Amino acid sequence: MVKSQKPNIVVTRAVPNSVADLLSENFTVKFNQIDKPFSETELKEAFQNFDGVLCTVSDKITKDILNSERKRASIISNYGVGVSNIDIECSKTIGLIVTNTPDVLTDSTAELALFLIIATSRRTSYLEAKLRKRLWNGFSIIEDLGSSLNGKTLGIIGMGRIGQATAKKAMTSLGMKVTFFNRSTISELDFDATQVNTLDSLLKNADVVSIHAPGGALEPILTEKHIQMMKRTAFLINTARGDVVDQTALVKALKTGSIAGAGLDVYLDEPNVPDSLLSLNNVTLLPHIGSATNETREAMGILAVKNLIAHFSDQNYPSRVV
Ligand code: DGY
Repeated sequence: MVKSQKPNIVVTRAVPNSVADLLSENFTVKFNQIDKPFSETELKEAFQNFDGVLCTVSDKITKDILNSERKRASIISNYGVGVSNIDIECSKTIGLIVTNTPDVLTDSTAELALFLIIATSRRTSYLEAKLRKRLWNGFSIIEDLGSSLNGKTLGIIGMGRIGQATAKKAMTSLGMKVTFFNRSTISELDFDATQVNTLDSLLKNADVVSIHAPGGALEPILTEKHIQMMKRTAFLINTARGDVVDQTALVKALKTGSIAGAGLDVYLDEPNVPDSLLSLNNVTLLPHIGSATNETREAMGILAVKNLIAHFSDQNYPSRVV
């Protein structure tokens, strides 16, 4: 550290021990050992009383919080790659640095997307629940069937790091063909995938649609109109953010059978998952665990701390958003 007195950092949620150790070596730290999410007042106090805030997706860093008086913090280090929990425009306006943790979670999130593709197409949540309720009557030739994936088309929306990793895994391990929609042209992929010009054409032709686009926009990327374009036999996978899909329209499509199923790791108003989704048999529902492996959460934390170290010692940030 360049400064003689260590900067004060507040950590909004419990973190792995190795991350806590690295924080303590470099900063004066207030930890949240009980892991209860901060209230809005506690978040405001964090920005008022600490030099840096280490937060995560469960902390909604709104304009109101950022504009609260006597703001002292100069950096938000987000423990996560997605920053839709933070008002980025407001951060820019007030000159607050925002950093995130890309790359280190790419493979674990892609692994989970792959899991959701398989689990949803083979209806494993529903079938396991049936077995656990002792409703399984034994092997049947015609019951409990799902859909094969080999040779089917995976449509990726958002061919960034996680989209690419998911596509490659689906192609190499499941034998799926890959199409993708991305705003900019992507020409240098090290595997075979076809970029389509419109979202509509991807939705009309894909057997599985997996979305890997950032959240935080005013409108969902997949609206009711888009969901209705999907094949009746298709599955929708979302490991990105709940707000990238119109959740109400998705429930309607799943109920009426206008699509075959959905595998979801993220929701509109986490941790609230509507009863209308919970009661469906054609969904696989997970509690936002895309990056939730010991190895990945540790790597994310170390990167989040390295961003803080860079900030307070005037070095280049490993991953700066604003
Ligand atoms: C991410 O890093 O964006 C994950 O969703 C966890 O927040």
